Amino acid sequence: MTDKKAVLSIDGYDTAINLPVLSGTLGQDVIDVSSLTANDIFTFDPGFTSTASCESKITFIDGAKGILLHRGYPIDELAEKASYLETCYLLLNGELPDATQKAEFEDIITSHTMVNRSIEQFLSGFRYDAHPMAIMCGVVGAMSSFYHDSIDIEDPTHRMITAHRLIAKMPTLAAMCYKHYVGQPYMYPKNDLTYAENFLHMMFGTPCGTPKVSPVLARAMDLLFLLHADHEQNASTSTVRLAGSSGANPFSCIAAGIAALWGPSHGGANQAVLEMLNEIGDEKHIDTFVKRAKDKNDPFRLMGFGHRVYKNFDPRAKVMKQACDDVLAELGLDNDPLLKIAKRLEKIALEDDYFVSKKLYPNVDFYSGIIMKALGIPTEMFTVIFATGRTVGWIAHWNEMISNPYKIGRPRQLYTGPSQRSIPSVDER
Ligand code: CMC
Repeated sequence: MTDKKAVLSIDGYDTAINLPVLSGTLGQDVIDVSSLTANDIFTFDPGFTSTASCESKITFIDGAKGILLHRGYPIDELAEKASYLETCYLLLNGELPDATQKAEFEDIITSHTMVNRSIEQFLSGFRYDAHPMAIMCGVVGAMSSFYHDSIDIEDPTHRMITAHRLIAKMPTLAAMCYKHYVGQPYMYPKNDLTYAENFLHMMFGTPCGTPKVSPVLARAMDLLFLLHADHEQNASTSTVRLAGSSGANPFSCIAAGIAALWGPSHGGANQAVLEMLNEIGDEKHIDTFVKRAKDKNDPFRLMGFGHRVYKNFDPRAKVMKQACDDVLAELGLDNDPLLKIAKRLEKIALEDDYFVSKKLYPNVDFYSGIIMKALGIPTEMFTVIFATGRTVGWIAHWNEMISNPYKIGRPRQLYTGPSQRSIPSVDER
């Protein structure tokens, strides 16, 4: 709370309404409008572009300056100096782990990587060609029926066990979705591998053998998870919070988050980027697609460009671009035709007046799609990998909400339908 207040005078109201102004540690001041309902008036903010839906200590974004901090640490420093699991610990607990805490946390996560055998059977019941995100929504939601020994949301220990289970089992489930899709046997996790190596082992290994993963590729995989770990109150995290605010169990809340992430304006953009590059097909067609993206009457958008909050650059994209270059060099893919289209598109968008004036920079999904393609991951799996990395953010926000006083989320509306009327008889309609 600050000493500042906002004063709202409304035509037709006798007195002005005083509204408190709140200040966070960083970022814009926030007008507290929660008392407006007592004055019989609401705010109208479709898409929540001007609304802070909660108070949070986890992640800070300054979209104008291109800053992303987790618990105060800049994302590029975390990417350089920490692993994904250290970042998970930070998001969940507020501080980076010391050496003992790090070893303990890695041990806990490793010991939770297997899934109940019945989950294998459940997952095998999906159609062989089901989209892996469809399977993930179903299987993660169903986890509440397998792990109901730890879903008392009032119990902090239960909440932490669930967080650990989700972080540990998501890569196993993600890889199982892929194996189901390609018709190969599920691979069990290997506890002597790192989180990222283990995921690549479960994805690309078979009972006949596991391809050796180079440190550059394992690091790129870890970075993919780390750079997606959290992003404050985006659509999927807000969905998790809203579902959780009713007291729903955490597995259903995360399933709701996965569903929200799937859309092409959010996590589904990484798959959409690759589909767009395939559709462009040849460098000579790029201009046509750029023209379409600029045409107000054409719904086509350049996927992987633009962001609701970042209006300068996406700091995750900066790190991802470097990782992308490293992976392409390591795999000798610098001349891949699709990647050449991506590079040309990136250059055009960074120079073209339309994209520059609207501040439409390449976002994290533009480069992550390219890295994942280079790693041999099929496009249908891209959003699943985003979901796997983001699970810690979702569960950290859910836990933060449940650990503090909270209310069920219940937005209101501006009603523009018919006024009250009587039902005519059938022959009068
Ligand atoms: N290509 C062409 N024009 C665009 C694009 C684009 N990718 N993105 C925005 N615009 C235009 C849009 O037509 C509008 O123009 P005008 O002012 O003339 O009407 C203007 O830029 C502002 O767009 P908006 O839709 O009002 O902006 P928003 O903040 O609501 O949308 C966005 C943000 C990410 C949904 C949008 O930029 C987009 O659809 N991008 C492509 C999808 C994408 O890459 N999504 C991944 C986001 S990053 C990962 C994540 O955090 O989930």
